[in-house]
Amino acid sequence: MTQQAADLIGTESRLGAHNYKPLDVVLARGEGVYVWDVEGNRYLDCLSAYSAVNQGHCHPKILEAMVAQASKLTLTSRAFRNDQLAPFYEELAALTGSHKILPMNSGAEAVESAIKTVRKWGYEVRGVPENQAEIIVCSDNFHGRTISVVSFSTDPDARGGFGPFTPGFRTVPFGDAAAMEAAITPNTVAVLLEPIQGEAGVVIPPPGYLRRVRELCTERGIVMILDEIQTGLGRTGKLLAEEHEGVEADVTLIGKALSGGFYPVSAVLSNSEVLGVLKPGQHGSTFGGNPLACAVARAAMRVLVEEGMIDNAAAQGAYFLEQLAGIRSNLVREVRGRGLMLAVELHPEAGGARRYCEQLRARGILAKDTHDHTIRIAPPLVITREQVDWALERFDAVLTGAQA
Ligand SMILES: Cc1ncc(COP(=O)(O)O)c(C=O)c1O
Repeated sequence: MTQQAADLIGTESRLGAHNYKPLDVVLARGEGVYVWDVEGNRYLDCLSAYSAVNQGHCHPKILEAMVAQASKLTLTSRAFRNDQLAPFYEELAALTGSHKILPMNSGAEAVESAIKTVRKWGYEVRGVPENQAEIIVCSDNFHGRTISVVSFSTDPDARGGFGPFTPGFRTVPFGDAAAMEAAITPNTVAVLLEPIQGEAGVVIPPPGYLRRVRELCTERGIVMILDEIQTGLGRTGKLLAEEHEGVEADVTLIGKALSGGFYPVSAVLSNSEVLGVLKPGQHGSTFGGNPLACAVARAAMRVLVEEGMIDNAAAQGAYFLEQLAGIRSNLVREVRGRGLMLAVELHPEAGGARRYCEQLRARGILAKDTHDHTIRIAPPLVITREQVDWALERFDAVLTGAQA
């Protein structure tokens, strides 16, 4: 490690809160699937900033839109209107088939906004007694880091020491539709879940699960909220992961890749009834729907579609999965994934995924361990077959213990 990298890490460690434990690689530049550290070493990015950089690092068309908008107008607040918000709404509605949109910034804010909104919908439209609304969530969920969101986390690290928590949530096992049905009460206003649990280690529910949840929500008149902040915008080889089961949520949350990684932009998408309960003064954000965010998001959506990234995710993802599954290694317990949302789960005896991420890093691949034993693989959706093959050679070497 150079002195420059060591100094930067030292300063971070001295002045920053230690709420992350990053690999000790200090990145300075990115382009497409690659990032470079301060020493000039190139890496293939297999995390994509937790799927925020689906379009690849520093996509030139998104950059162009950002620079052009930044030199015209960046922020007006919603006290005034701006000329980017309406086209952003139109293009996002056309892309996703939504009727109403609430623009926010981070993913957690989109989740918070959905929780607030469905509660209000429950009281005003469903007639649930005041302060009694319940939302059903799934164990091992990840929806962000705010107090209300960690109130229904089942991860001790996410919750520990942060109480008192927000009430009004019931937890059922992910993938178990019968348990969800049993948890519904007259006060249930919504279910909130990820179509594939990302942070839990790319956990794919059994076939038919989302369809059954959809049926239950329709039968019982409750709102189905899908958090597609990580799975959405092409990551799984479809625009939204719900499409794999042919279902449509009532409320869909997107974020991350909505800006291609340039800027925090998230959105709550819904039918008119649910978001229709919000009236002036009841919800908002200084930066939500600002012209810079809207211009960036418009370009990010456009390149995703125009450059065929969603189909590429399906094709390269299927190939990557098949080839990973073919690696003969006694370290590997399971390989799973959909599109370019992939994971290699190691046996506990392998000694933890982090050491393999360190070895991958030494071979030019940045990947992230999750939940101790799983290596998550989620490269930008612009990855080519040759780049997948290059990555596979390195995964093979690390997983089989061979020398590069
Ligand atoms: C499914 C899901 N929901 C919500 C979030 C929170 O998003 P943010 O970190 O932008 O608040 C994440 C982030 O990883 C996520 O994966």
